[in-house]
Amino acid sequence: MIEYKRHLVTAALPYANGPVHIGHLAGNFLPADIYARYLRAKKEDVKFICGTDEHGVPITIRAMKEGVSPQDIVDKYYTIIHESLQTMGISFDIFSRTSKEIHHKTSQDFFKKLYDDGLFEERESEQFYDAEKNLFLADRYITGTCPNCANPSAYGDQCEKCGTALSPDELIDPKSALSNSPLVKKNTTHWYLPLQNYEPWLKQWIIEDHKDWKNNVYGQCKSWIDNGLHPRAMTRDSNWGVKVPLPNAEGKVLYVWFDAPIGYISATKELTAQWSDYWCKEDTKLVHFLGKDNIVFHCIIFPCMLKAHGGFVLPENVPANEFLNIEGEKVSTSRNWAVWVNEYVQDFPDMQDAMRYVLTANAPETKDNDFTWKDFQDRNNSELVAIFGNFVNRAFVLMHKLCGGKVPAYHIESKDAKDDALYEKIVHTKTHIGNCIENYKFREGLFAVIDLAREGNKYLQDKEPWKKGDDQIAIDNCIHLCLQLCANLAIYCNPFLPFTAKKLIKMMKVVDRMLEWENGGSLKLLKQGYTLNPPELLFRKIEDEEIAAQIEKLHKHQIVPITASQSDVNKPSADLPTQTEEKDVAAIKPTIAFEDFDKIDLRVGTIIAAEKVEKADKLLKLTIDLGMEQRTVVSGIAMHYTPEEVVGLQVTLVANLAPRKMRGIESNGMILMAENNEGKLIFINPLAEAMNGCAVK
Ligand code: MF3
Ligand code: ZN
Repeated sequence: MIEYKRHLVTAALPYANGPVHIGHLAGNFLPADIYARYLRAKKEDVKFICGTDEHGVPITIRAMKEGVSPQDIVDKYYTIIHESLQTMGISFDIFSRTSKEIHHKTSQDFFKKLYDDGLFEERESEQFYDAEKNLFLADRYITGTCPNCANPSAYGDQCEKCGTALSPDELIDPKSALSNSPLVKKNTTHWYLPLQNYEPWLKQWIIEDHKDWKNNVYGQCKSWIDNGLHPRAMTRDSNWGVKVPLPNAEGKVLYVWFDAPIGYISATKELTAQWSDYWCKEDTKLVHFLGKDNIVFHCIIFPCMLKAHGGFVLPENVPANEFLNIEGEKVSTSRNWAVWVNEYVQDFPDMQDAMRYVLTANAPETKDNDFTWKDFQDRNNSELVAIFGNFVNRAFVLMHKLCGGKVPAYHIESKDAKDDALYEKIVHTKTHIGNCIENYKFREGLFAVIDLAREGNKYLQDKEPWKKGDDQIAIDNCIHLCLQLCANLAIYCNPFLPFTAKKLIKMMKVVDRMLEWENGGSLKLLKQGYTLNPPELLFRKIEDEEIAAQIEKLHKHQIVPITASQSDVNKPSADLPTQTEEKDVAAIKPTIAFEDFDKIDLRVGTIIAAEKVEKADKLLKLTIDLGMEQRTVVSGIAMHYTPEEVVGLQVTLVANLAPRKMRGIESNGMILMAENNEGKLIFINPLAEAMNGCAVK
């Protein structure tokens, strides 16, 4: 076991091609911030590093679309992202940018070292070229017809419709998604890192030595390694990015996933002259925070780069999170299905901790999780306000009422078992929260804070100091303990809810230093006889109207594309499609045999009941009478029809479709619908009344 002397904490660099959303906060920035704040409170030597990732294809595309330069795009979003994260209290030691000179130099030197050491393979290949735009195209920006399902808008890396992974060569009639023009093939040379050479080492380092990594992370790494690694191009054809530092490499830049993680190193250089202590000394503990789509880059590719280069520390842990859905649906920046941090801080000024709380409580630590505005309101009102805020408020009000606004004495000889139990809980909670944070279990740590406040309320309720008449000793002891508990709560909540901790120390008129972790578990934080300020409102209630407004905003601003959008073309398999502006009618799918058609069992049925599915705006749960039986079918039509509208309708049902679970409800069949030009879904119902259960041929 290494005894670590210093900590490097990184949060994945957001792309400067749009603002950040709360999924970024929950998965990446908040856990990193909690961890860094905790380490600082423990007086550890820690540097928390981040910045914007300003290269890569999405930025150039965005610039092209908006008719501005890539530099304009990154300047704009750097500011928006930086400000919104700062407002949320994300306590970076530096928030840099990969467009900085120091970063270009650092990543070029890095590349050059690997090149000089002969670690790249130089390869020529034919690639698709958009002659109109003068660009080699990333796979994602090539569209064509899927050879598998005939979807006319499949992408060069994947067909969204049937899920098949593709290469651009497999597409029928490949076109540029940017100019819609046919593509030509041109030869181009790139430098590849032969990842397969690092396989034995990776096996040892991850599969053997890092069984302690989170299951989701370990599992993803293992499957990458088990599937075999291949050479990966570390350069691209583009004029936006870090120039390849070789002669005759005009028009070539470093692959964004090569330069971006080096951004952690360049930002540290920018921050401190001692940067190499952090990056090169074995007793640095490097921890990368990120979302699951970044795992392979931080666990496999970047470590291979660091290993190839030599002289750098490797991550000790990569506690990646899964994704946060919004109101039951996957976040989609292209569809604008997201809660943007810059908008949140405007709509809810001074309520950073409410969002920090809810996102940490619902953090997708082990599986995808859901954010709903209703849950945001519930947790704020029933946990922050009703438990934490309420306890602190009662303690302060009672102190002003029963103890003259001063911290009363603690008469140790009169303490009882309840006092001891509370004290023990205070001490125990410190160890517990510490362990949680050190093991990246931030939700559990946060719940321990609330539990302790809940314990405080219970203690007050048991003791009822307001009924103690002139038994001042009993009153004093109770209030004294409650106030010390408030002080401890300030220390414990500080990594998670720093704004609340600040308010608390102001109310208690103590200095920031009280928040240091070593003070946790003490009953001597507030001195006897000390006058405290009147209580401040720690949290405020969130009203129904505010929530309704947010939900409406989400739906109103949602863009419903037919073929969709913009995504990270830099990732091996991004999950979002690219843009085709007009709607076109889908081409006819490839011919199928009669026997294939005959496998589908279509039946007539009547919808006899319908209800909304909780927390899923699109879904209706339908009960369909087929004559011989009744079926439950979950159907994505709630945006088009109310339950009342559909009850009584006759529909055509695919009756032998394999059951599928949606939102925990098993759906048995699918209703046939037509989609009109506005994207509205229309029932395909029999023209004349047909008997339920009869077959449709
Ligand atoms: N920009 C990438 C994303 O948003 C993350 C880059 S992390 C770094 O997915 F390691 F490359 F910096
Ligand atoms: Zn397909």
